[in-house]
Amino acid sequence: MKLFQPGRIGSLTVKNRIVMAPMFCMGMTSPSQELGYSQRGIDYYVTRARGGTGLIVTGVTCPNEKIEKSWGYPLIDSSRATLWLSELAEAVHDYGAKIFVQYSAGFGRQGPPNPSLPHGGLVAPSPIPSFFDPSITCRELSIEEIEEFVSDFGCGAGIIASSGIDGIEIHAHQGYLLDEFITARHNKRTDKYGGSLDGRLRIITELFEAVKRSTCPDYPVTFRYGLTHHSELEGSRTVEEGLEIARKLEAAGFDGLHIDAGFYETNNWAQPPTTQPDGCLVYLAEMAKKAVKIPVIAVGKLGNPKLAESVLEEGKADFIALGRPLLADPEWPNKAKEGRLDDIRPCLGDDEGCLGRVLAGKYISCAVNPQAGNERNLALTPAEKKKTVVIVGGGPAGMEAARVAAIRGHEVTLIEKGYELGGNLLPAAVPEFKRDYRQLIDYYAAQLGKLGVTTKLGTEVTPELILSMKPEVVFVANGSSPIVPQIPGIDKEIVVTAVDLLVNRPEIGKSVVIVGGNLVGAETALYLSRQGKRVTIVEMLDGIMRDMVWMNAQDIQRRFDGLESDRIDVKVMTNTEAVEIVDDGLIVVDKAGQKRTLKADKVVLAVGMVSNQDNLSEAIKGAVPEVYRLGDCIRPGKVIDAVWAGFRTARLV
Ligand SMILES: Cc1cc2nc3c(=O)[nH]c(=O)nc-3n(C[C@H](O)[C@H](O)[C@H](O)COP(=O)(O)O)c2cc1C
Repeated sequence: MKLFQPGRIGSLTVKNRIVMAPMFCMGMTSPSQELGYSQRGIDYYVTRARGGTGLIVTGVTCPNEKIEKSWGYPLIDSSRATLWLSELAEAVHDYGAKIFVQYSAGFGRQGPPNPSLPHGGLVAPSPIPSFFDPSITCRELSIEEIEEFVSDFGCGAGIIASSGIDGIEIHAHQGYLLDEFITARHNKRTDKYGGSLDGRLRIITELFEAVKRSTCPDYPVTFRYGLTHHSELEGSRTVEEGLEIARKLEAAGFDGLHIDAGFYETNNWAQPPTTQPDGCLVYLAEMAKKAVKIPVIAVGKLGNPKLAESVLEEGKADFIALGRPLLADPEWPNKAKEGRLDDIRPCLGDDEGCLGRVLAGKYISCAVNPQAGNERNLALTPAEKKKTVVIVGGGPAGMEAARVAAIRGHEVTLIEKGYELGGNLLPAAVPEFKRDYRQLIDYYAAQLGKLGVTTKLGTEVTPELILSMKPEVVFVANGSSPIVPQIPGIDKEIVVTAVDLLVNRPEIGKSVVIVGGNLVGAETALYLSRQGKRVTIVEMLDGIMRDMVWMNAQDIQRRFDGLESDRIDVKVMTNTEAVEIVDDGLIVVDKAGQKRTLKADKVVLAVGMVSNQDNLSEAIKGAVPEVYRLGDCIRPGKVIDAVWAGFRTARLV
């Protein structure tokens, strides 16, 4: 396979074509950023190196805090950084991986503003508004500050190289400070660092030269940027300009380009969520590849090994980068190499465990792999005593508990009343854009089989049945069901829950009103509108998709707003309450108290879930030594809540 052939970036040979995409490592640094990655951070990278990754690119790293205070990223402020850089390099080299530091100027206008500081503590090439609080104007960097930054960047590069790090990726990704310098929309300077594209690129070429000066001419330096911002906003980057940048940077001597897209206004391209298709950025890498001769790295939803291989086979890129797929499964490269595709745990693209946690100030991890980012503390150990474990419920909490308990050596039986494993993952996996959810079910089914878990499907559990099995441990994970609000007309034929709609696929006609605009309502709207249905979402609150990670919601919102290429028909009514169902639609009341009837062929309910009744736990308490309740049956949640509950409970039994 091409994936496993060595590749070159400048003077460096990488053992295969698999790059770990840079991911900002919240929670992975020591309390003092200048001390760099903590043991947790080193473990995190080593786990990916051991899993077979050829080249690791660290998360964003800056020289110091002179222009921007670190938001949690490591710094290379003095030669003391050698301590952590060298430990990191030595640790990943043990497994044959190479490692680049992603080297940056920071977040610029996209940093979280600190209201107690002048300009919110934000800097930019020009006095432009903060992304998060447009009432704050970023402070324009002076020429002297830029020149000092370039010089510090070079000094830091010397430390990086002498510590044994194999190369540097300059970070101009996703609208951060260096991207802002290149972008006409954000760089309005009239001095040598602004104006024409060459002026806007000056800081980049100066940084490049500073790195080469303080390392050596053949020290590998790559550049990461969006070939386009994928945006309708004036002054954002077009593909044509992106290609011109590629040619100019090749001429300047860069050793490779890492191609992505977007900025915060179009973060649904920079961090493509569930509803973006697999490989959605490959076409950009392909264009860059045609424009330059230096190696091109493609990224973005490439977690399907067959797709990743085809990108290389078809010459669309020289390397493929995996971000979230390596969080979900750090062994992705080894498993792909051995053809063990059904052992690869798929990334769901829901961003809950990675960006969702980082945005909430927690360490980076993964919805389907709770060990990500906490490899040492959450390592699974063999159980001290082998126990008989019965798990009630074959949804994500039950399946994960079964997997973990079996890995630890217990004798596990999983009982599911349906005729298929998956629980609420089954309806979730129906839309074509949720195929990774289907893959997660298949992954669990394969793993439980391989681990020798006895699975009993189509079996209704009773206390008598459980007691007859004489288990030492029972996990009750019997899930949740859709809420059906008790409004007049709710029993009419026109009504269906989103879960029923997805599972049973009844005839639904042409026009649909969906009650509820959170994740399930919005995704169902997208699913139905793509089938040509006319969809209206009715939401009581003043906004929709509040329970989704920002870029996931942004992707759907841009589609609803007609800003992506979809031709879909979705209308959103917020501050609107559903009060009655009639034969031909739904009666709603808006904030002003105005009543109206929305005509529809079907009314779809997506107003949340309620825990299923658990008559079992109490009935078997005392007779079974250990009884645990897990997941939705305690409180309905997301996949991450269910998987993490299954993992964290079963690892201690
Ligand atoms: C939690 C998280 C943090 C990220 N931090 C960075 C970063 O520091 N620098 C960068 O260039 N890209 C960053 N990215 C973008 C990824 O490198 C990658 O382009 C993106 O996740 C799409 O690739 P994937 O589908 O393989 O995850 C980050 C992505 C995630 C999910």
